[in-house]
Amino acid sequence: MPMDDGPLTYAEFLARVPKVELHCHFPGTVFPATAIELAEKNGVELPSMDPDELYRYDSITDFLAVLQAVSKTLVEPDDFARVAYETLADGVHTGNLRYREMFFNPDYHYPQGLSYDEIVGGIGDGIRRAHGEFGVRCNLIAAISRFHGPEAGVALVETVLAHPHDLVVGIGMDDLTPEGKEAPEIFVDAYALANENGLNVTAHVGEIDGSTPRDVLIALDVLGCDRIDHGYRILGDPEVVRRARDERVHFTTCPHSSVWLYGFTFEEHPIRQMFLQGLRISLNTDDPPFFATDLGKEFVIGAAQMGFAPEHVAQLCLNAVDACWLPEPEKERLREDFCREIDALTARLT
Ligand code: ADE
Ligand code: ZN
Repeated sequence: MPMDDGPLTYAEFLARVPKVELHCHFPGTVFPATAIELAEKNGVELPSMDPDELYRYDSITDFLAVLQAVSKTLVEPDDFARVAYETLADGVHTGNLRYREMFFNPDYHYPQGLSYDEIVGGIGDGIRRAHGEFGVRCNLIAAISRFHGPEAGVALVETVLAHPHDLVVGIGMDDLTPEGKEAPEIFVDAYALANENGLNVTAHVGEIDGSTPRDVLIALDVLGCDRIDHGYRILGDPEVVRRARDERVHFTTCPHSSVWLYGFTFEEHPIRQMFLQGLRISLNTDDPPFFATDLGKEFVIGAAQMGFAPEHVAQLCLNAVDACWLPEPEKERLREDFCREIDALTARLT
């Protein structure tokens, strides 16, 4: 490790800049060795019991199948606490994570006999432990799984409203419909209920091959999102890009998962184009061990290979602060801390 006031290489700078992460899925954070241990403890089958083989797939459908299988290895509230603690510790150690908003899918876990309160309680225990040891903070986004359909989406929002919890700060939507589509419009009722009740909302759209700028527009106009997860396909329509830029829509982008799943290269990545066209974006891990990444690598490899300079990286980190769902006074404190620390790190670049 370099001295704490000595010169820094660019890679050290990228790992050390303070970070807020807005796009990371709880079941997608399970380390393969942890998944295998939990599977053995709880008597659950996995597609492979070899940690080097488990996370292998070459399409989003195959990836989501492994993600579902891994989520079934979590059976006791303590299993949830362990996974939450391990992933937050990893974010702190690899990437100087300060605050994360993390998706969780209640519908994945009901078949294992857990209640909504047990799921949130278990994850919350792990969050508290990580906060006590490292000072990192984390809130949760209850995610509608498209696999479970629009009615389950409404039921999820009803559950969130009926069980208010300090940690749960909004609603998201991930996975694909059984037909393999994003089809954001079919979830309008769930989002209407969330919006009527003042919940924060975001959605995965404009991610997969075949999705279009129209999917992003639907998330903005029909679902009422002011934050979009992924959104790469927006680049197909300059008018929609202009609209998102003017309205300061934030895009939580994920370098490694999109390279892995969609064949983008870091050198010519839509994330870079989105940034150059003035969109407000952040860099995030999505499902870190599932895509052989971590918060540090998203910057040390992703940001560096996408050609982001130190001032761009500072902008990306501050964009994430601006777009997070903390109360304004807490955001302001975070912003001040980030500006001070980023300035100090920048001054040490060789
Ligand atoms: N769930 C976890 N990661 C996802 C992704 N990249 N797209 C859709 N659903 C997901
Ligand atoms: Zn995602």
